[in-house]
Amino acid sequence: MTMDVREIYVTALKNTHAVEMQALQIMERQVERLERYPEMEQALRRHIEETHGQRQRLEEALQSLGDSPSALKEGFLGFVGNMMALGHTPAQDEILKNTYANHAFENFEIAAYESLLTISDAAGQQGHRSAFEQSLKEEQAMADAVRKLIRPITERYLSLTVSGAKADR
Ligand SMILES: [Fe+2]
Repeated sequence: MTMDVREIYVTALKNTHAVEMQALQIMERQVERLERYPEMEQALRRHIEETHGQRQRLEEALQSLGDSPSALKEGFLGFVGNMMALGHTPAQDEILKNTYANHAFENFEIAAYESLLTISDAAGQQGHRSAFEQSLKEEQAMADAVRKLIRPITERYLSLTVSGAKADR
């Protein structure tokens, strides 16, 4: 099968859109459950808002090419999906697993946008470049925020757990 660069670009837009839809699901599910880790809750709420904007940027780019988002391709998020599934299983250390998964997911998104920018350049599609640069910056900021939360969250998890308090989420 031969694909031209424009088709590769459209596929990249659709895949990145699917990633953002997955991101929204993952974050919304966590936000509803979080009770004792307000910093993570706050970071997720802020990033949910940003993600709606990111989704819209991708939809606008697809519409400008006369295309539209499609359903998630089977298996595309298989690796990440398996990792995220860890966080969905009720566990005493749910917060730790979700923190690792959030860190991984944001870095997955960074890779997706770096790649999308490269493909959009190759396709000669500069029109949405600055919009995707903005999305990339937001993913990097969220990845940094999650990274910085790993130690404080682990410390709270430890102190709650050893004092016999509810620590899971
Ligand atoms: Fe993100």
